[in-house]
Amino acid sequence: MDKVLIQGGTSLEGTVRVSGAKNASLLMLAAVLLTDEPCILRNVPNLRDVHFFISLLQGLGVEVELLSPNIWRIQAKKIHANPPYDLVRQMRASVCLMGPLLGRLGQAALPLPGGCVIGNRPIDLHLHGLKKLGCTVELKNGIVHIHAQQLKGNHIFLGGRFGSTVTGTANILMAATLSSGITRIENTACEPEIVDLCHLLTCMGARIEGIGSPQLTIYGQQKLHGADHTLIGDRIEAGTFLIASLVTNGHLIIDQFHTQHLRALLHVLENSGAKMNITANQIEVFPCLNQLTPFEITTLPYPGFPTDLQAQMCVLAACIPDLSLLTERVYPQRFMHVAELQRLGVRITLEGSTAIVQGGQRLSGADVMASDLRASAALYLAGLIARGETQVHRIYHLDRGYENFEQKLQALGAKLYRTAE
Ligand code: EPZ
Repeated sequence: MDKVLIQGGTSLEGTVRVSGAKNASLLMLAAVLLTDEPCILRNVPNLRDVHFFISLLQGLGVEVELLSPNIWRIQAKKIHANPPYDLVRQMRASVCLMGPLLGRLGQAALPLPGGCVIGNRPIDLHLHGLKKLGCTVELKNGIVHIHAQQLKGNHIFLGGRFGSTVTGTANILMAATLSSGITRIENTACEPEIVDLCHLLTCMGARIEGIGSPQLTIYGQQKLHGADHTLIGDRIEAGTFLIASLVTNGHLIIDQFHTQHLRALLHVLENSGAKMNITANQIEVFPCLNQLTPFEITTLPYPGFPTDLQAQMCVLAACIPDLSLLTERVYPQRFMHVAELQRLGVRITLEGSTAIVQGGQRLSGADVMASDLRASAALYLAGLIARGETQVHRIYHLDRGYENFEQKLQALGAKLYRTAE
């Protein structure tokens, strides 16, 4: 296992190019199962989760070829419905295999995903949608067995008590593209990654109406064909670098993503007094830390404030004198970073699913433990501003979702390096 050693105190300067969106890439790696023709996916980030998903596809009999570090050629010519359980069990996003496998083969068998550090990860909405499409679902020894003689279009409400579901929307949407008849899904996720998936499916011959809205209508097809698609930039990586610039009082240009995808974050930062120059695909952020005022955020499904930036915003709150409030409405227990931030001197407490941060304290370096992908990023950001050295352990969590994170930070002036434990 690796750890990273960070010397705090440098302001980030320069330009960073955002990689392809992790949460779009995983949905698309599932979508290519919907056709037996070859698909080309470009701007795919070089991440552990991507390589993991690729091994899953290979376990299903899919042919994959890496044409260049970020371009994959994938063909699901002959596939079977039983993905390797030891792999499926380790990554929640593998649940997205259900829809395409049911569309192509009429059956799928996957372990019921367990919980994870950010909280319970049920798939009741996925299964509800698949049943509405005519599937039978049986849970035996922790494995969900799903069968469908013929998927039939239907009217499906997909909202749960936490609102919409991203991978649930992807699953039902992908199954519906190969169902007979018309499927109307209400309360779908509107995340940019779902919109990008819809664009890929449309290129593959699917007919989808309402793209980007919380209501999708899908006209089922007999067959889909191959496509060549370039993924959108990763809005969460972009937001992470934007916050990194602010907490280090730096001057960054963050390039190669649709800034519209970060509207909720930009709204909060503008209200807090951040100095930014925003164009369609680039943000320039200027040194302005001592002008920022405390903020309140509540995480919500898109276009609300993204839960995947909540941990990083706790670090920004720590830099702003007075009280900021951060409430989690998507994953109410997503606060594994709180105890680690306290070790660095952040005055943060939890009231239910709200973090209360008393900002303005000087942080001092310490040994801290990464627990999940976004909490790891938050610990890097805190290390960049803590006095002295911070060691972040178990950084394999970070490798899941940030491509060349250390190299990008070093190129911006950060003093950090990775080493074995
Ligand atoms: C996706 O997870 C992302 N992962 C997550 O990013 C992201 O945090 C999350 O959406 C919310 O935006 C991928 O896209 C691979 P959900 P997903 O289904 O689809 C509840 C990261 O750090 N729910 O939208 O698994 C659920 O418990 C990762 O990049 C049900 O109740 O999330 C949660 O409270 C972490 N029943 C809420 O809905 C269901 O059947 C949103 O979950 C499904 C979900």
